[in-house]
Amino acid sequence: MEPIVDAGDFPASRKSAYLNTASVCLMYRGAEASTTDWFKDLTENGTLTFDEAAEESVFEGLHVAAARLFNARPDDISVGSSATELLASLAWAVAPGPEANVVGTEITFPSTIYPWARVARSTGFEVRLAEARNGYVSPDDLIRLIDSNTAVVCISDVEYSTGQLYDVAKLAEAAHKHGALLVVDASQSAGAVPIDVAASGVDALVAASYKWLCGPFGVAVLYLAPHLQGKLDPGLVGFRSHREMWNLKADRVEYAETARRFEFSTMAYGCALGLTAAIEYLLGIGIDRIFERNKRLADLLIEGLRERNAEVVSPQDEKERTSIVAARFPGADPKEIARHLSSRQVVVSARRDVLRFSPHLYNEPDDIERALDEIDRFVRSEAD
Ligand SMILES: Cc1ncc(COP(=O)(O)O)c(C=O)c1O
Repeated sequence: MEPIVDAGDFPASRKSAYLNTASVCLMYRGAEASTTDWFKDLTENGTLTFDEAAEESVFEGLHVAAARLFNARPDDISVGSSATELLASLAWAVAPGPEANVVGTEITFPSTIYPWARVARSTGFEVRLAEARNGYVSPDDLIRLIDSNTAVVCISDVEYSTGQLYDVAKLAEAAHKHGALLVVDASQSAGAVPIDVAASGVDALVAASYKWLCGPFGVAVLYLAPHLQGKLDPGLVGFRSHREMWNLKADRVEYAETARRFEFSTMAYGCALGLTAAIEYLLGIGIDRIFERNKRLADLLIEGLRERNAEVVSPQDEKERTSIVAARFPGADPKEIARHLSSRQVVVSARRDVLRFSPHLYNEPDDIERALDEIDRFVRSEAD
């Protein structure tokens, strides 16, 4: 398997067998440079260079890059400080009423559903979560929860704990048949799994920067389908929400007609520039290529885990899998294994009752071998 990145682009990648991107990525060096250049310029020049015009146009590059990543238009993209923040603003904007329901999964990352649950406590709608059996949610079970009262289906297209990948186009069709919106949290897919909002019919999508996009903390993006842009009243508003942000009058707010209406305040702007650099870098390599190679790394891992009698919990169907691999080791606590691995510079996470491995483009087959060797060492030490 050929490397697809220059190891110098990810300085930390040779220091450990880093199999933890589903938690936090190794940041791309170019993203770090763009982020810190902005802070340095602010330190040295203040608004002499970061003037009002610069602040107003600061997200333009990210609008373009994220639009390319999702097959959308720059006007469909909004920038915020975190995926949770953007989703919370969206949930308050949609604010389904007391007769409605919102559908998700019980194993979703809490941030994907908490914003809806919070709005539900105010407006009274029902939150319905599809059950998981042994870590797997049957898409048919999920679809069965959707009915004529469903306002929103909100899922993470890749489940954070098992890597289960949903057929987003199928879910969009099921939601739309009942007049519901499909909202996707792509924090565990953007940068690693091809996303095409135009082809899949997603209504809104958010993505964090610091996982598979290899960007910094402090920034996230929202895609909003054109049919929603003129309609929604964002849950979070501030001076930037007005369509001319420097026309500072407190007695009214008129939103932009684009997704930009969800941009409401200042933020650590350098992070947006860092994420732009990261997305451009990943697009240069190709998301399809990254996706396929990551899954080949996962194949090596799954083979080795099976040889060691581990139970692989992640889906095996090619259409439902990603490079996130969750496994159980009979009689062993995943937290203890993770601790042992980490002391040997093999970085993974214990999530729920599984050990989660999440290789990305900077990993090589020898990282997988190291992880498997250290699991053997752990098993031997337990047996002693
Ligand atoms: C699916 C999913 N959504 C959202 C988040 C958190 O995103 P943020 O920190 O940008 O709010 C995570 C973090 O693990 C996640 O896995």
